[in-house]
Amino acid sequence: MRQIIAGNWKMYGRLADVAAYTGAIKAAPAHVSLLICPPFILLDRFATALKGSSIALGAQDCHATPDGAHTGDIAAPMLAEAGATHVILGHSERRENHGETNAVVKAKAEAAQTAGLIPIICVGEAEAERNAGEAGHVVRTQLAHSLPENFTGIVAYEPVWAIGTGRTPAEADVTAMHAEIRAALIARLGADGQSINILYGGSVKPDNAARLLALPEVGGALVGGASLKAEDLLAIAAAAPRR
Ligand code: 13P
Repeated sequence: MRQIIAGNWKMYGRLADVAAYTGAIKAAPAHVSLLICPPFILLDRFATALKGSSIALGAQDCHATPDGAHTGDIAAPMLAEAGATHVILGHSERRENHGETNAVVKAKAEAAQTAGLIPIICVGEAEAERNAGEAGHVVRTQLAHSLPENFTGIVAYEPVWAIGTGRTPAEADVTAMHAEIRAALIARLGADGQSINILYGGSVKPDNAARLLALPEVGGALVGGASLKAEDLLAIAAAAPRR
């Protein structure tokens, strides 16, 4: 399975950064699929700058309805119009800061798929949940209730305590969780569950990427901080195994 290296810019980046960044990431190795998810306001500019390249563009959230009186929200068809093909949904920062429940994430994913976007559904346990031995249960529950019935997207496993902290789980824990997620996807979707990329996210950096990306059932990375520097994202992409 071709690995996906996805950059989540979160609420970083300025218009002035787009030209140099997009110019640089076009040098990405061909054995991975690269995807950049900038803030909404930069999507259109990224789309223009990436035209003709194989680098995909994604947003970081969408509303669950295609239009309506929702001040400050963005609908999935608007993202598609701006050039996005993907959308990150249920990131732990959305779940925590905006009170997004699994049901909300599922409704957004349905809206995304209806608009022709590929949802990237984020799941992951908090540190206290891992320490209590509940990580598997938490992630299975998130998957069961966040994925739409006809899910055709990507899953990102992002342990909350590894995001932006420089800490990563033990390799055995990443392997075990990705196996759990794969089993849940197959139980839910049958053979289709086998071909879904399961990304790892949380403090992926050039110096740990080769180790993390080589683990079984890791289908790529969702990269926050390190994706802001083109050279770091390229180094992470170069570290992806060819398989
Ligand atoms: P960091 O790579 O900065 O830890 O962020 C991970 C993340 O939240 C990606 O969605």
